[in-house]
Amino acid sequence: MRDAETGAALLAWYDRHARVLPWRVGPADRAAGKRPDPYRVWLSEVMLQQTTVAAVRSYFHRFTTLWPDVAALAAAPDAAVMEAWAGLGYYARARNLLACARAVAADHGGVFPATEAGLRALPGIGPYTAAAIAAIAQDEPAVVVDGNVERVVARLFAHPEPLPRAKPALTALAARLTPRHRPGDHAQAMMDLGATICTPRAPACGICPLAGFCAARVQGMAADLPRKSAK
Ligand code: ADE
Repeated sequence: MRDAETGAALLAWYDRHARVLPWRVGPADRAAGKRPDPYRVWLSEVMLQQTTVAAVRSYFHRFTTLWPDVAALAAAPDAAVMEAWAGLGYYARARNLLACARAVAADHGGVFPATEAGLRALPGIGPYTAAAIAAIAQDEPAVVVDGNVERVVARLFAHPEPLPRAKPALTALAARLTPRHRPGDHAQAMMDLGATICTPRAPACGICPLAGFCAARVQGMAADLPRKSAK
């Protein structure tokens, strides 16, 4: 695998095709090296955990309008936050959201910790969310691995081991691809590629910017990966 070339091809594709999403900075700001606010990245990642981008959009807009920063959210009454969350489902996320906002306000002066380890210590922030905030908002070379990333990496390296056993190996392979330069854009590019081209069924290898680097494509098995253990 040509890791650095693969990463460069992915970023070049992202610069042309990044999805425009309310929690991202626009292309001009991105080119100027501007990064989104950790509060907005955190909020979007929590909302996106079990919910589609299409469903999250209006909720993200509502939350950021009602509570533009973490201090405002921390000061909100529980009932107002639960009401604003109604319809998104998985209500434990809303309760964790408030606990986390209040911890950031009370213990960190309203500023999200600047490292992945610091973020990980907050209530309701697991390894995925900590890595996503660190990479996307803070430009730390954190390795961000969700289901999309697992699929992209399993195919790029033609990794045959089934999920969930393959998780540690796929994380290690994802780490190989994570650049020190623009790790947040890299993470979001992996997500966009997985959501729009390297899809679970019928991946669009014909228009994939990484087709020339993809071991599964060479072997004609992209659609068969990642394998999953029989339940
Ligand atoms: N899914 C989870 N996080 C995402 C993000 N930051 N951008 C697009 N899709 C996502």
